Amino acid sequence: MKKLILTALSAALVLGMSACANKSGSGASEKELNSKSAPIVTEEELGLRDENLYTEEGVKPVEAKYTKAAPGTAKRFERSYENAPPLIPHSVDGLLPITKANNACLGCHMPEVAPSVKAVPIPPTHFMDFRTQKKLDHLAQQRFNCSQCHVPQANVQPLVKNNFTPGYRSGEEKKKSNLIDTLNEGVH
Ligand code: HEC
Ligand code: HEC
Repeated sequence: MKKLILTALSAALVLGMSACANKSGSGASEKELNSKSAPIVTEEELGLRDENLYTEEGVKPVEAKYTKAAPGTAKRFERSYENAPPLIPHSVDGLLPITKANNACLGCHMPEVAPSVKAVPIPPTHFMDFRTQKKLDHLAQQRFNCSQCHVPQANVQPLVKNNFTPGYRSGEEKKKSNLIDTLNEGVH
C-alpha cells in the first residue's frame, strides 16, 4: 500500500516538473503540445479577419450590402431576440450622422408623428429615466443617439459560427417589444 502511494507521489512529482519545464519553454515543442491539448493560436493568427494580424496586405473590408429601400417602403426584420433593439430596415442615406442640432429619426419616429408616416413609434422605455424609474415628458437623453443601438441590417455571414437561437414568450415579440411590461417581472 505504502509503495503504491509513493509511486503515485513520484509520478505526480515528475509530471509537475515537466509542467514547469514546459512553462519555461524548454519542454514539449508547440507542435507536440498542439497534438495533445487545445489547438494553439499564434499571434499572427489572432483576430477575426483571416489575415496576418501584423500586416494590412490582403485585408479587404467585408462586402456588406445595406438595404436601399427608403423609409416607408422597407420590410421590417424580425427581432434578433426578445426585446432586442430592432434593426433599421430602411436606408439611412442622408439621415446620419445624428448631431445635437439635427436628429432626422425623430421627424418620423416620435409617437405623435409616427402613425401619420406609418413608422413604428419610439416605445415608452425611451421616455423613462431608469435611474429614478420615473416617466419623462420628453425623450430620455440616453436615447437621443438612436444609431448607438439601432443599426442598419446587411446580409453578411457571422465572423464566428454560433448556434444561438432566440427564444420568445410568444410569436408576438418577434415583431414588437414588450419591455415596458416585462421590466418589473419577478420584482416584488
Ligand atoms: C421619413 C420617415 C423616417 C425617418 C426619417 C426614419 N424612419 Fe425609421 N422607419 C420609418 C418607417 C415608415 C418604418 C417602417 C418600415 C418601413 O415602412 O420602411 C421605419 C422603421 C424603423 C425601424 C424598425 C422598427 C421595427 O419595429 O422593426 C427602426 C429601428 C427605425 N426605423 C429606426 C430609425 C432611425 C434610427 C432613424 C434615423 C437614423 C430613422 N428610423 C429615420 C420611417 C422613418
Ligand atoms: C440605449 C440603446 C437605445 C437607444 C439610444 C435607442 N433605442 Fe430604440 N430600442 C432599444 C431597445 C433595447 C429596444 C427594444 C426594447 C424596448 O422597447 O425598449 C428599442 C425599441 C425601439 C423601437 C421599437 C418599438 C416597438 O414598439 O417595438 C423603435 C421604433 C425605436 N426603438 C426607435 C428608436 C429611435 C428613433 C431612437 C433615437 C431617438 C432610439 N430608438 C434610441 C434601444 C435603444
